[in-house]
Amino acid sequence: MTTPASPTPVTLVVGAAQGIGRATAETLARGGHRLVLADRDPEGLRKTAALLDTPVPVYPVDIRDNDAVEYVVHSIEAEHGPIAHLAHVAGVFTTGSVLDSDPQDWQYIFDVNVTGMVSVLRAVGRAMRERRSGSIVVVGSNSAGVPRMDMGVYGSSKAAATMIVRVLGLELARYGIRANVVAPGSTDTAMQRSLWTDPDDDAGVRGAIEGDLSQFKVGIPLGRIADPADIADAIEFLLSDRARHITMQALYVDGGATLRA
Ligand SMILES: NC(=O)c1ccc[n+]([C@@H]2O[C@H](COP(=O)([O-])OP(=O)(O)OC[C@H]3O[C@@H](n4cnc5c(N)ncnc54)[C@H](O)[C@@H]3O)[C@@H](O)[C@H]2O)c1
Repeated sequence: MTTPASPTPVTLVVGAAQGIGRATAETLARGGHRLVLADRDPEGLRKTAALLDTPVPVYPVDIRDNDAVEYVVHSIEAEHGPIAHLAHVAGVFTTGSVLDSDPQDWQYIFDVNVTGMVSVLRAVGRAMRERRSGSIVVVGSNSAGVPRMDMGVYGSSKAAATMIVRVLGLELARYGIRANVVAPGSTDTAMQRSLWTDPDDDAGVRGAIEGDLSQFKVGIPLGRIADPADIADAIEFLLSDRARHITMQALYVDGGATLRA
């Protein structure tokens, strides 16, 4: 009697309803991953799922709700099997000076980008630790690595997220589990366009590429902003066994914008 082949393990993409998370789902699906998608936006999740060739389960969840995250991760594993790969892409953005930003903005951005991310990492990471296998990629930001005007709230949330992932990578290394960060620069999504005076005007793209020395922003040496698929490719690589000796890293995918300072 032959034992039935165990099904391909699950890859969970959190923040898959649009933008980089949607592109990540499309790239990973093309690469043969068996996906489960989560996000707080159920309609966006359905739209992403409709773009994929095979049916994919979707789980609406707001990652600020720790109990809901625990429940969803438990349900995914019970219904679809072990999560072998986690791409955590969900994040929120705001601008404002350190001195004048609204305290509610600080709270909200840290609730999602730091505490919410930790809830996901704890729920998924503990299950991976028990099985002694898995790989994790979290999307940070190049603003975690260089001071940017009006990016104190967002940049510091991504700096905290980056260090949490690197410490997690250290703690999980003895179990053979890797954890890395992909740090995008300007990437053409709704989040990026919210920064521009007119979201549909290419002046926003030119502004990002040219930089603004009055704001101490040097521009993008490679002369383009990223497509979401550029970020997804880096996520796919770091999740894969081709990156089996890479952990605790932050890979900047920003066209050189931070001069990797
Ligand atoms: N677009 C850029 O230029 C850029 C640059 C650097 C880093 N990033 C990072 O890349 C990631 C994706 O950004 P994007 O540009 O695709 O943004 P986006 O706004 O298009 O997508 C973010 C996704 O996260 C989800 N999300 C937000 N809060 C959530 C919550 N509480 N619970 C569950 N899901 C939640 C949203 O519903 C959305 O689907 C973010 O972490 C962002 O900080 C983006």
